[in-house]
Amino acid sequence: MTTTPFKDRARIDAVDKVRGATAYAADIPVPGMLYAMLVPSLVAKGRIATLHVEDAVSVPGVVRILTPDDFPPPPEPVRFPNADAPPTLHRDIAFRGQPIALVVAETLEAATEGAERVAATFETQPFAATKRSALAVREEARPTAFGDAEAALAQATMTVDVEYESPAQHHNPIELISTTAVWTDGRLTIYEGTQFASGIKEVVARILRIDPGIVDVKSPSVGGAFGQKGWVQQQTAIIARAAMLLGRPVKLVTPRGQIFHLAKFRPNSTHRIRLGADAAGKMTGVHYVADQQQSRRGTFPPDYHAGPTRLYGIRNYYGGGVDYRIDTQPPGHMRAPHEHPACFAFECAVDELAYGLGADPVDFRIANDTRVDPQNGRPLSSRHLNECLSRGAQRFGWSKRTPKPGSMRAADGSLVGWGVASGIYPALVTATVATLRISADGTTRFATTHHEFGQGIKTAIGAVLLDGLEIDAAKLDIVLGDTTVAPQQITAGSWGTFSVVPTAALAVERMRAAISELLAGRQFSGTIHQQLAAIRRPFLTVDVSLLGPGQDAAALERLRRGQYAIAGPTFPEFTAMSYIAHFVEVQVEPTTRRIRMPRVVSVADCGRVVSPRTAVSQVRGGVVWAFGAALREATEVDPRFGGFLNNDLVDYVVPVNADIGEIEVDFINEPDPVANSVGVKGLGEVAMVGASAAIVNAIFHATGKRLRKLPVRIEHLLQVPIP
Ligand code: MOS
Repeated sequence: MTTTPFKDRARIDAVDKVRGATAYAADIPVPGMLYAMLVPSLVAKGRIATLHVEDAVSVPGVVRILTPDDFPPPPEPVRFPNADAPPTLHRDIAFRGQPIALVVAETLEAATEGAERVAATFETQPFAATKRSALAVREEARPTAFGDAEAALAQATMTVDVEYESPAQHHNPIELISTTAVWTDGRLTIYEGTQFASGIKEVVARILRIDPGIVDVKSPSVGGAFGQKGWVQQQTAIIARAAMLLGRPVKLVTPRGQIFHLAKFRPNSTHRIRLGADAAGKMTGVHYVADQQQSRRGTFPPDYHAGPTRLYGIRNYYGGGVDYRIDTQPPGHMRAPHEHPACFAFECAVDELAYGLGADPVDFRIANDTRVDPQNGRPLSSRHLNECLSRGAQRFGWSKRTPKPGSMRAADGSLVGWGVASGIYPALVTATVATLRISADGTTRFATTHHEFGQGIKTAIGAVLLDGLEIDAAKLDIVLGDTTVAPQQITAGSWGTFSVVPTAALAVERMRAAISELLAGRQFSGTIHQQLAAIRRPFLTVDVSLLGPGQDAAALERLRRGQYAIAGPTFPEFTAMSYIAHFVEVQVEPTTRRIRMPRVVSVADCGRVVSPRTAVSQVRGGVVWAFGAALREATEVDPRFGGFLNNDLVDYVVPVNADIGEIEVDFINEPDPVANSVGVKGLGEVAMVGASAAIVNAIFHATGKRLRKLPVRIEHLLQVPIP
């Protein structure tokens, strides 16, 4: 495997993006478009008693109102990924904000007014709005255990027994959730910003009882996804049904306030951690049980302990999870879904333990390295966490830190705190297919599995194609997220690069072989386009497919059917994980207690870095989000009504530019020798993991106060005496 670093390249999509030329799903112009608006339920649980649409129908421009009667009964037996009920309209209400009707009109204004005029009455039922509600149902997941955690904790020299809480939080990508459905000549085309075009194709077909063969889904560009766009949305089949009933294209762009109630979200979770170390500073045992809020039939697992299991070589482990089933929409994946809250809790507990032992928090982590996956004893494909920690410490200037809390001050009198934490995320991969076609006219087209949602996957693919082939970069077209060109797999879990970059490398290799066969020893100068022209060959195409280690042909079949085709992080011969170390400086103003974050150093081990520019951006974005998660974001619930109260960007507070200081990013950039032919692992999610812990550990170092509940706000520091 070559270890030459990839060179820095501009984003392939940069010029179009800054010109506003990038078309997102809701921008696709379709003649004769109708506009739609959903009507949300105002009760949290019960059944629609009456639904009056007459007033709404009388609004000029309203064309039709869809109600639960407009949907075929769901096919049985049928499972919809992580949905309590098939995502259509129903009379039974499972959560506040659930759609009860859809108004379709000639204009957006008419649709909006019509939606406001739909009148419903409900037979209500008592409901549980939070984990602490009397009607919440507790359900334990199967634990993971190895060694003897209780014995290890009993024998430990130093233990901590602490509880951390992470609040419910909602994704707020800039692009809203939108669906445009077009029904013409017996084909249904859906334009939707999604991470899983083929999943939409299959599931919408099943819900509407049509042949998936007549459904096409296109998601050319997505304006931020982060897990929110990983599933068929609540609205997708409803809009498709409206287009089919009306014979005209229908578009819905869901307002942000409704998205808070319709989309997945990060559930509230509480993490009880007992962690012990011996006199030599080795962590010997951990007992980690997390609980989370869950919907009545949701399937997002409470497996928070899975990440920390693999962070250090702890030999005695008990990890458990608990769901509290309540009346909410199903929670789901939001960037680093388990690892972010888990590493917030665990890496703060590690800091508490290090302080208890009088150890330096960086040295303590370095001393707890492992070469194997503690869960199963398999070798790790690569692990450079200790290099991340030591390089980060060096770049940050950690040696100048005085360990005593409250012992460092800035020139303006602010308390200075320096904190560190590690992060970990599984290296996952999916079955992937691609078609590469190079033409004599100068164009190249690479059509493949997976989606671009701003993370830079096109730029990473482009790096491999442009490094390996003499082709015209300006006429390179990379087509993603389109079921008409390749079966689409869910792009999530940081597996995009691991999956598609080695596939692109394979396509390059096959293309070079095909060209040399075609030229049969003849020599032509110039690009591949010019060589093809010289031999009067209009184009040359290669088709490739690639499986992850240990995957077989069944994975390709699942890929073709819009089902999950994912492998890892445990592969037959090894376990593969990505790692990161974050170093954070906070400053706490002594009078206001305002917390600022002037600088961060983050060093990641994601294997070989294919696209340096987008990789740096991924890490910066992850750190910014961790700042939001640690100090700003929480979705509030009023237990009297259910639903989410602060469902807009005024009251759901996210970081702004002025909140963010310098974020210095570095990579180990060592190829993973066994994961795949290019030596890449994932980066998108590990970027965020642990950064919240580093911030909260820094606040402890600044103030001496251990804060164990996110988000940390000024009011939590008001009682802290400042010398
Ligand atoms: Mo990500 S939360 O796996 O899309």
